[in-house]
Amino acid sequence: MTASAEASTNSSYRSSSPERDVKYRYFSPEFLALENERLWTKVWQLACREEELWSVGDYVVYTIADQSILLVRGSDNLVKGYHNACLHRGMRLKEGVGHIDEIRCPSHAWAWNLDGSLKEVTDPFDFDPATVDVARLGLREVRVDSWAGFVFVNMDVDAVPLRSFLGEVVARVERFGLDRMTCVKHRTTVLEANWKLAHEAFVETYHAVGTHPQTLRYLDDTDMNYEQHGVHGMHRVKPGGLGTPSPRLGDYDPDRREILLAMVGDLAEMDYYKQEEVDQVNVMVDAAMAMPDVPIGAFFANVRREQAKAEGMDFSEFSDHDILAGELWNVFPNFTAPCNAGNGNIIRFRPNGGDPESCIMDIYYLQRFAGDERRPMPEPEQYANWRDAEGWGAVLRQDFTNLPIWQRGVHSLGFEGPIWGRQDGNVSNFHRALTSYVEA
Ligand code: FES
Ligand SMILES: [Fe+2]
Repeated sequence: MTASAEASTNSSYRSSSPERDVKYRYFSPEFLALENERLWTKVWQLACREEELWSVGDYVVYTIADQSILLVRGSDNLVKGYHNACLHRGMRLKEGVGHIDEIRCPSHAWAWNLDGSLKEVTDPFDFDPATVDVARLGLREVRVDSWAGFVFVNMDVDAVPLRSFLGEVVARVERFGLDRMTCVKHRTTVLEANWKLAHEAFVETYHAVGTHPQTLRYLDDTDMNYEQHGVHGMHRVKPGGLGTPSPRLGDYDPDRREILLAMVGDLAEMDYYKQEEVDQVNVMVDAAMAMPDVPIGAFFANVRREQAKAEGMDFSEFSDHDILAGELWNVFPNFTAPCNAGNGNIIRFRPNGGDPESCIMDIYYLQRFAGDERRPMPEPEQYANWRDAEGWGAVLRQDFTNLPIWQRGVHSLGFEGPIWGRQDGNVSNFHRALTSYVEA
């Protein structure tokens, strides 16, 4: 399945009646089983960062649904992926992350080389020689490819190449330099909502009016642009819309200082800007007040441009809009990539084992540094409950608070199924793509 180069913004993504077939997708164990069988085994999916596999012998275990994939950097420096199960009696070979010079099963100690070839069978004389033949007992491989510093896997050996699958996403996201960024923070937590419901909260900004009302002070959320590109989607605020109050607020006439500090505060809390840039704003806020003809957005874009220059990077090719807001790409099936010139937050949602009512969320916080330097991966932060951690920022906390309530809401006998409008177009497109997998 490839992404079409042609964007669609037409009304074909609107519902003509409640989408009754979609409602049960959020909680049905049968639908979860269908996804496990027909989606996750067939689709390219983001497994980890390349920085997590920095050196030869570094490994990461990627878990999706009831499957586990062992990713290892081999002695040829290439990353390979194996089904994470011993070929003797099925024991998981590895857990978590770490460093190895061979893949040795913790049960009866059979071992494989990093390239997947069989290294050793314990007491081979006790087996039928045909069953423990070196030529037959290589670890079972999955497809592995990388893009923008992320390692992707696909269990379908006949899948189209990753680049074909990503389609237009590649050029549009690389324009912001995502492929030149490094991961400065990685957080994982559990949300009490189905992975699709949680993912959908990040493919539209229509919900800002209800969920994030404080953002309307600096965000003109009207007339936002929503595009569908094959199975993927994109949305963005219109140029000039960040740093401008929403017309929904009527004759609200805030102080320019309030707009600037509210905007920078909310987005910096999500690490969508660097702390150094925020510090600059705090120093220069009086200067911004003394230039009433310069729009707030343009002022802050210039602060970011100057800070980038001071760090040895050139942002002159980017518009104010690219520097402030950028674009939010949702990549099928399960991650969203908000990115601006210099920063990206990759937000991924996976099913939480066999529970359709919760999901595992990761955020990879990315930043670009001078010389496009990649840095070693920081220690991952893992929270069984998102409430155990500070530092998500107000916007994410609002989403995380709403999602469990939403999850309970979709069970209601009074809810027939979603009714999608233009601004839900990426949600609608996502479900169409999902249908093409589960009904295949
Ligand atoms: S299950 Fe792995 S060696 Fe026996
Ligand atoms: Fe949100």
